[in-house]
Amino acid sequence: MAIPQSFLDELKMSCDIGQVVSSYVQLRRSGRTSKGLCPFHSEKTPSFHVYHESQSFYCFGCGAGGDVISFIMRIENLGYIEALKFLAERAGIPFPEEERDDPGLRVKPLIYEINRAAAHYFHNILKSPAGEAGRRYLMGDRQLSAATVTKYGLGFAPQGWDNLRSYLRGKGYTDEQMLLASVVTRGRDGKSVYDTFRNRVVFPIIDLRKNVIGFGGRVMDDSKPKYLNSPDTPVFKKSRNLFSLNFAKNKADGTLILAEGYMDVIAMNQAGFENAVATLGTALTPEQARLMGTYCKEVVIAYDSDGPGRTATNRAVGLLDEAGVKTRVLDMKGAKDPDEFIKKFGRDRFRLLIDGARGATEYGLKAIREKYDLGDAAGKAGYLQEAADYLAGVPSAVEREIYAGKLAEETGVLPEVVRESVGRAARRAARRMEKKTAADLEAGRLGRMPGARPGDIAGDGVIGCLYHHPDWRAKIAAEVSPADFQSPDQRAVYETLLERQKTGECTVTELAGVLSQEQMNRLSGILARVSEGYYSISPEALADYIRRLGAEAQKKEIAAAGELDAGQYQALAEKIRREKQGKRRQGG
Ligand code: GTP
Ligand code: MN
Repeated sequence: MAIPQSFLDELKMSCDIGQVVSSYVQLRRSGRTSKGLCPFHSEKTPSFHVYHESQSFYCFGCGAGGDVISFIMRIENLGYIEALKFLAERAGIPFPEEERDDPGLRVKPLIYEINRAAAHYFHNILKSPAGEAGRRYLMGDRQLSAATVTKYGLGFAPQGWDNLRSYLRGKGYTDEQMLLASVVTRGRDGKSVYDTFRNRVVFPIIDLRKNVIGFGGRVMDDSKPKYLNSPDTPVFKKSRNLFSLNFAKNKADGTLILAEGYMDVIAMNQAGFENAVATLGTALTPEQARLMGTYCKEVVIAYDSDGPGRTATNRAVGLLDEAGVKTRVLDMKGAKDPDEFIKKFGRDRFRLLIDGARGATEYGLKAIREKYDLGDAAGKAGYLQEAADYLAGVPSAVEREIYAGKLAEETGVLPEVVRESVGRAARRAARRMEKKTAADLEAGRLGRMPGARPGDIAGDGVIGCLYHHPDWRAKIAAEVSPADFQSPDQRAVYETLLERQKTGECTVTELAGVLSQEQMNRLSGILARVSEGYYSISPEALADYIRRLGAEAQKKEIAAAGELDAGQYQALAEKIRREKQGKRRQGG
C-alpha cells in the first residue's frame, strides 16, 4: 500500500531516534552524537553511534546503519510496513488503513466534537453577563482587545462544579465521553464527575487542522495552580504541539518567536508579532524543535529573563541547533517576559529588541561575563581565558573574529593578544581532536565500511554532498554518471537520491522504504563519516570527489579495455602519484 506522506511526517516527528534506540541500547550522549554497545553484533567497546541531527545510526564495528525505521526492522525483525505499525503504536499515532476500520479509534472525532462544543460554551459565557469577571481580567487587567479575544476564542469557565457538564449533557454527551476529552474530571471517590475548569479564563489550544485539542485555564488572582492545562488525551499530546502555531505558520517568513507562556504569545499577536508560539506548559521537546524547523529557518527565543528562563533558553538553543534551526536570543531588560515588555515599552521597542536579538555566541559570552568581576585583574583574566576557550569552539571564523574584537574592547586588552589566545585555545582543541582521531583509528574504532575499497571514498563523498545539498543536485547530476561508481550499493543510493530529490529534500526516513538494507548501511556509513568529520562537505571537496571519481572510472575503463600501452600506463601512474602527493600536502 502507499503510505501517505502526512503519516510518515507525523511518525518522523514523533519518533526521535535517540528515544527509540534508548529502549534497546544504553546510550551515552556527547554533543550531537550518542554512543553505545551495538545491539547487532557483540562487542566490548561502544562503536554504535546515533546521530541526532540526521536522525540516523551507524555501527563502525559491523557497518549496520539506517534511520529509526530500519533500526526497528532489524531489532524487532520486522518488515517495513510492520515496523511502521510498530512505531506508530508506540507513538500513539493511528496507522492510516486502520483509522477507518477500528471503532476504538473513532474516539478522536468524538473528542474534537466535545472540545469544540466546550470551547463555544466557554467563549459564549465570556461574552455573556456570567462572564463579567473573565472579561474584566482579560480585557481590563491584561488589556486584550475584543478582536484578540475573538481571534483566540478565549473563554471563561464559571465558578461551580456542574456548568459545562450539564451543558454537554444537554447536547447528548455522556460522562464517559466527556471524560475522554478530559473536560470533566472524576473525583477521588471514583464516582462523582465534575467540570475540570472552574472560575478560570480559558485558552483553547488549536492544532494545524483547526481542531480544538485541549485547554489551558488561568486563575484571575494569585491562587495556585496559576495555570491548569488539559492532560494528554488521544488528541492532545503536549510534547508534539505548539500554542498558536496555526496562526504563526502562515506568518513565519523564515522566523518564529518562541515564548514561554500563552499570554506572551497573545500579547505579541496583538502587537503585530503573529509569528509567535509557546510550548504547552512543558519544556521544549525535540519533537517541537523539529516541528518548528519545518516552518522556519530561525527561531528567536523570547523566554523569561529570570534564572529558570535562562536554563530553558540554553536547552532550547541546543535542541533547535540539533534540529538544524538557527537561534537568536532576546535579551529583555526591564521586563520579565514579552507581555510585560510590550506593555511597558510598546511594540516599536519590542520590534527593535527582536531585530537586535543576537546569536547564541553573544548569549554564551554574556553568560560567561556574568561569572566574573571585570573590575579586577584576576576577574578580567579569568573571563578572557574562558571566553577564548568558548570562542575557539565557535564554528564560524567570521564570528570568532568579530567577537575576539569585541572581547578586546571590553577588557581593554590588545586585539592581537585576544586573537592569539583564541588561536591557542583553538589549536589546543584541534590537537585534542587529532589525538583522539589517531587513537580511534589505531584502535580500529572507526572501523571499515563493509565492502569498501579506497577508491570508493570519492563516491561516498559525492553521495554525502548530494544528500546534504539537494541544491547541488543539478551540478552533480550533470557531472557524475551512475556508471562512475565502483560499488553497486553506491550506484543504487546515488540513483535513488537523484530521483527522489527531484521534488526537494529527502531524508533517511523517506529512503528507508526504498533502499535495501545494504544500501541503507552504506548511506548511513557515509552520513556517520560526514558527522565525524572524515568526509568534508563543501564545493571544493565536491569538485575534488568528482575529479577523483572520474579518474577512477577512467582507470577502470582503460583496464577493462585491456589495452594499457606503455604511454597510457606512464600517464596514469604519474597522475596517481601526483594525486597522492596533493592529498598528503593537504592533509599535512
Ligand atoms: P501570566 O503572564 O502570569 O499569565 O503567565 P505567563 O503567560 O507569563 O506564563 P508563565 O511564564 O508564568 O508560565 C509559562 C507557561 O507555563 C504558562 O503559559 C503555562 O502553560 C505554564 N504554567 C505556568 N504556571 C503553571 C502552573 O501552575 N501549572 C501548570 N501546569 N502550568 C503552568
Ligand atoms: Mn507573563
